[in-house]
Amino acid sequence: MVISIANQKGGVGKTTTAINLAAAFAPRKKRTLLIDLDPQANSTMSYLDIMQVEKSMYDVFVDPTVTMRDVICPSSLQNLSVAPSRIALAKLEARMVGELDVHFKLKDRLTAAAADYDAVVIDCPPALGLLTVNALVASSHLLIPIQSSYFALEGTDDLLETIEKVRARANPTLKILGVVITMHDKRTALARDIRTQIDKVFGKKVFRTVITKSVRLEESPAYKESIFKFAPDSSGATEYYRLCEEVMDRV
Ligand SMILES: Nc1ncnc2c1ncn2[C@@H]1O[C@H](COP(=O)(O)OP(=O)(O)OP(=O)(O)O)[C@@H](O)[C@H]1O
Ligand SMILES: [Mg+2]
Repeated sequence: MVISIANQKGGVGKTTTAINLAAAFAPRKKRTLLIDLDPQANSTMSYLDIMQVEKSMYDVFVDPTVTMRDVICPSSLQNLSVAPSRIALAKLEARMVGELDVHFKLKDRLTAAAADYDAVVIDCPPALGLLTVNALVASSHLLIPIQSSYFALEGTDDLLETIEKVRARANPTLKILGVVITMHDKRTALARDIRTQIDKVFGKKVFRTVITKSVRLEESPAYKESIFKFAPDSSGATEYYRLCEEVMDRV
């Protein structure tokens, strides 16, 4: 099970979902790998000290002698390892121009390491470029976080088009696992309207669990903790736990 968390819109909750979903898998005795493909390295910073990171996914992409196993670091959570990103990943697109297998790099490199894990979660950058396409090609499933906001559905056509292109040749079995609504504010009429609109477009694909807006979720990465350790009794912990249950039911 390799799950990409993707949406080219920025700030919709991809990283928050990736780090907490990965943390929810780990205590179920699932050996879990969180791959950070975003040059901003927010997932990496949520679990590792970036100063200690020597090699990153950038090296895996550009240096054939560097394997996934060379870059993967254990996190403070049992069963959870992290394949870190570094800002250098932003240069990848330019660096790989002209190579023939550009879209298959991650899939090829992940195959050898995947046997060590029961679940792999990939945090994608806010773009539909080379990194996100590599993630989609390497994934069995895609989970799309959509922020509960007025422009929630803007850009989803482009995302769906990219998924179709990936399915056409590179990865025909890629499944949309579901859509999770994030940063929801139950109290407002606008949020309820947005929910109805998202339901209209994605129907049964929308997870029953909705992630509400919560200061705890916003704070937890700064303390290098998942929501389950940082604020186990918070709404965010309950919601990401439930989302994990739904994910397990669907895969
Ligand atoms: N449920 C939530 N309640 C409150 N704040 C949240 C919630 N989920 C995420 N945030 C905050 O919103 C911001 C954007 O979230 P996040 O980084 O997860 O989005 P992203 O899609 O990964 O962003 P980017 O596209 O830049 O990678 C962060 O500051 C995060 O802490
Ligand atoms: Mg992010």
